[in-house]
Amino acid sequence: MLGHDEKVLVNEAVLRTFKLKDHSLDLYVLPESLFVPNAVSRLFAKVVDIAPGDVVFDIGTGTGVLAIWSALQPSSQVYAVDPVAEHCELAERNAKLHEVDGKLIAFQGSLFDPLPEGLSADVIIGDVSGIADGPGRALGWYSSEVPTGGGDGTEVITELLHRAHRHLAPKGKLYFPVAVGLSDDDKIMRAARACFDSLLLKVDVWFPLSDEEYEIVSCCLPPELLQRVKKKGSRMAWNGLIYEATRPKKA
Ligand SMILES: C[S@@+](CC[C@H](N)C(=O)[O-])C[C@H]1O[C@@H](n2cnc3c(N)ncnc32)[C@H](O)[C@@H]1O
Repeated sequence: MLGHDEKVLVNEAVLRTFKLKDHSLDLYVLPESLFVPNAVSRLFAKVVDIAPGDVVFDIGTGTGVLAIWSALQPSSQVYAVDPVAEHCELAERNAKLHEVDGKLIAFQGSLFDPLPEGLSADVIIGDVSGIADGPGRALGWYSSEVPTGGGDGTEVITELLHRAHRHLAPKGKLYFPVAVGLSDDDKIMRAARACFDSLLLKVDVWFPLSDEEYEIVSCCLPPELLQRVKKKGSRMAWNGLIYEATRPKKA
């Protein structure tokens, strides 16, 4: 949370418009160094189901796009978390811009660490970094300021899956992404099955790579992941999935 006397970290942000399901959102972003909402952000907004009064955690909020979208739904409160201080600052600035700052609080830190004790969520949006470090950096999707999903793309998502049961209401839902080919999807799904009784596939799309992007990816992915990048039509493509997880298993 930013106090009045805290210094402003981001001076050069630009306003961009992002279309998400039923909203067209103007948001402050900093494309050179911070994460910019993309097609995956749009897909999350398509499938995340928020009921009246729901408490939402947006873990891996970036500049706040899905937290703000959630606050514009009939949710009661939205808690947004990101380890990058500049992301949190822009998320708060964007919340003010959309007049949802009374309902949305941004916290800097990792996963559930910075959230107040005793809170539980009806909906957890877990759009955390899930791309392996090599392709994430080489493709320019992640600047040096933004943490990736680690060596095999699984580090943040598997920790999220293992810890989520302590933060979900009994009938709560967790949404998480899997980037097949750009992360070790088997490892993520093993963790998901170990942690939840019900996993529903909500999004299954192929994202084409340009020839240049595929060349970059081929150089930095281990062969066992690269073989999961497939030819779709005339292009190589990676498979983006979003799951809804419910009925967490007790640890
Ligand atoms: C794929 S981006 C998505 C950002 C945002 N949801 C959007 O749609 O633009 C992943 C985000 O996860 C954040 N992240 C990385 N490690 C994290 C962690 N340990 N806890 C919370 N968020 C994390 C990154 O800083 C980044 O903002």
